[in-house]
Amino acid sequence: MQQVINAMQHIALEDRYGAHNYHPLPVVLARGEGVYVWDTEGKQYYDFLSAYSAVNQGHCHPHIIRALTEQASVLTLTSRAFYNDQLGQYEQYITQLLGYDKVLPMNTGVEGGETALKLARKWAYSVKGIAENQAKIVFVSGNFWGRTLAAISASDDPSSYAGFGPYMPGYVKIPYNDIDALAEVLKDPNIAAFMVEPIQGEAGVVVPDEGYLRRAYDLCKSHNVLFIADEVQTGLCRTGKMLCCDHEGVRPDILVLGKALSGGVLPVSAVLADDEIMLCIKPGEHGSTYGGNPLACRVAIAALEVLVDENLAEHAEAMGNILRRELRAIPSPLLRTVRGKGLLNAIEIEHPNLEAAWDICLRLRDNGLLAKPTHGDKIRFAPPLTITEEQLYECIGIIRKTLLEFPTA
Ligand SMILES: Cc1ncc(COP(=O)(O)O)c(C=O)c1O
Repeated sequence: MQQVINAMQHIALEDRYGAHNYHPLPVVLARGEGVYVWDTEGKQYYDFLSAYSAVNQGHCHPHIIRALTEQASVLTLTSRAFYNDQLGQYEQYITQLLGYDKVLPMNTGVEGGETALKLARKWAYSVKGIAENQAKIVFVSGNFWGRTLAAISASDDPSSYAGFGPYMPGYVKIPYNDIDALAEVLKDPNIAAFMVEPIQGEAGVVVPDEGYLRRAYDLCKSHNVLFIADEVQTGLCRTGKMLCCDHEGVRPDILVLGKALSGGVLPVSAVLADDEIMLCIKPGEHGSTYGGNPLACRVAIAALEVLVDENLAEHAEAMGNILRRELRAIPSPLLRTVRGKGLLNAIEIEHPNLEAAWDICLRLRDNGLLAKPTHGDKIRFAPPLTITEEQLYECIGIIRKTLLEFPTA
């Protein structure tokens, strides 16, 4: 039985019994609905992080929760040792919605990334004809795709990789948003794939130059290299289109989705590709006990239906334009940069105190809005896509008041 304890006691329990691998903002949440969350004392906040874009549809969306609870009482897990009566329908739904031959269902985002790389390596050996164990994957600086050894091996952020070596071989790293560097590295005939986030979320919402993705894709095509888009954070309407690659009319060879694929209800990720790539992996060569479980499939269909039925791509685009315009109009010397696309946005804080972004987030919290700094001086603003214009203006008011009241030195 759970005891009733206060916020400080919840924090103390995590500190005492949990691993210290996170540094959360001190607020203990107990409930969520739509764009709001409430702490254990009942104080209401706007959620401006959306669980790193997993809650695009808003907290506890009724359509998704209905799918979850209905399916949870019928059948939750069969493993892929047997067929289940939800997986095929989900596979049909998502592939038709996104225009791919096939989907491979996994759970977390990082498993999606791992799956994409395994597919690319298999394709490199069985289709492209690269000699065994020679395939290379190209990554860009500032990338983040999770915490497994394969993912941190791609990272150039010491807080991700340092102390966890040895690292995965067969990786090549080039600067982000540098098309010449990509052109140069693609001269190597052993390159199997180029993996990229269309906007770098964890790096601080780094938006590449217009045309970068298109040119990168075209270069990959001309070198018979697979273009892998990690849309775990940018996908599913977050940036104002179903996929962020849609802004440049790019259709990735391999598409990785996660986070909002379940609307924040349980871990669901997916890798989409056409047959020439997907069928390179044969029975028994890849999988996951929970991947494609009936509960996840039912929830994922509902989560996708919400995005489509509520026009969340168009809405995110419109709300994002208002948010950036209004943030840029705040007359504060603290605001070095405002950037983003749709409702994936960040500000950069200009302040002599390196802790200023953290302190601003504490004050935003006190004023009723939750956001979290990333990489020191950047604060991401990514509310659920269901936010109304009225709610958005209220949030802009909170941010404005917080910044104008914050000491500049
Ligand atoms: C772009 C991107 N890819 C992959 C991941 C990893 O997802 P997960 O934490 O579900 O493993 C993240 C997580 O933040 C991400 O932002």
